[in-house]
Amino acid sequence: MKERIEQLGQQFRNSLLGVTDTESLEELRLQFMSKKGYITELMKELGKVPNEQKKDVGQMINTFKQEITDQFDRKKEELIRLQEEALIKGAESYDESLPTNDPNGSYHPITLVQRELEDIFESMGFDIEDYSEVVTDFECFEAVNIPPFHPARDMQDTYYLTSKDQLLKSHTSAAQNAILRKYGDDLKKKGRPIRAVFPGRCFRNEAVDASHDNTFFQMEGMMVDKDISISNLIYFMKTMLSEVFGREVTVRLRPGFFPFVEPGFELDIKCLNCGGTGCPSCGNSGWLELCPCGMIHPNVLKLGGINSDEDPFEYTGFAFGLGLTRLAMMKYGVRDIRTFNDCDLNALSQFVSR
Ligand code: PHE
Repeated sequence: MKERIEQLGQQFRNSLLGVTDTESLEELRLQFMSKKGYITELMKELGKVPNEQKKDVGQMINTFKQEITDQFDRKKEELIRLQEEALIKGAESYDESLPTNDPNGSYHPITLVQRELEDIFESMGFDIEDYSEVVTDFECFEAVNIPPFHPARDMQDTYYLTSKDQLLKSHTSAAQNAILRKYGDDLKKKGRPIRAVFPGRCFRNEAVDASHDNTFFQMEGMMVDKDISISNLIYFMKTMLSEVFGREVTVRLRPGFFPFVEPGFELDIKCLNCGGTGCPSCGNSGWLELCPCGMIHPNVLKLGGINSDEDPFEYTGFAFGLGLTRLAMMKYGVRDIRTFNDCDLNALSQFVSR
């Protein structure tokens, strides 16, 4: 058994070296971790091991499984980072040392992307909402199904303020509860579906580099009504993204975890550069990861006063969280995220549009 585990470990490491895109990484994971994978095979063989050795061999298998998972996670993170870097390099780039010298001034690139998206959503009947940057723990976490001490809080390195219970919002989902409360009456009394987008500045205690900043923008959206399903989610996302990119996009959903959506997804679009065959901009996978989304968790709808305990599925809805800053980087070919907050007017005054 020990030899077999060592041999499988070697095989995993060798295969991992050859992996260059997320798709083949997933294939490799399945080879080892799926129901018919090597780990299951090892677990079956464990049954045949003499009783006095079972404990040791079982532990070996567990350690092996953990090692594979860690290596897989690390590789995945690296691939996504490379994919983003290649994407940004591939986009229409600009020379940050060239000012436009436009006497009328110019808008910040994030403002431009935000306004463009707002126009698109408005044309689809969405309300545009604004929300505070300092929020309570309840708004940012508890109202979106993340109780105190829940491990999902570690996904976001949050800046807590010294005044009690307040923090800098780490995601735009912090406004979900307020939006549900604001529009809930119209939904229930007048049958007017809740459709809202809410862009906002978010803060996380990130180690700052070319692709991470402690201050960035997201745009969140929600739709709630009777009988809203995943098909509605796909339709809206597809229509909206086709508008943003100015051509028809193909989307796909993969499972993704966020406590406030169930099921939760990562939404990918087919690479606009190569049409899905694989190229440097998409890290050869043919797909670009664009936006987390999902069906709003029943607890979130209940806490927002939408559904009662008796009928937790009376109304259903979807939510998504678009990374505005990342979209602006892709659109304008901005290679360093820090440009947005650097106050370098030469760099920022190039995106004139009124
Ligand atoms: N709030 C999540 C984040 O910032 C994104 C998200 C929004 C996911 C809405 C699903 C639905 O990580």
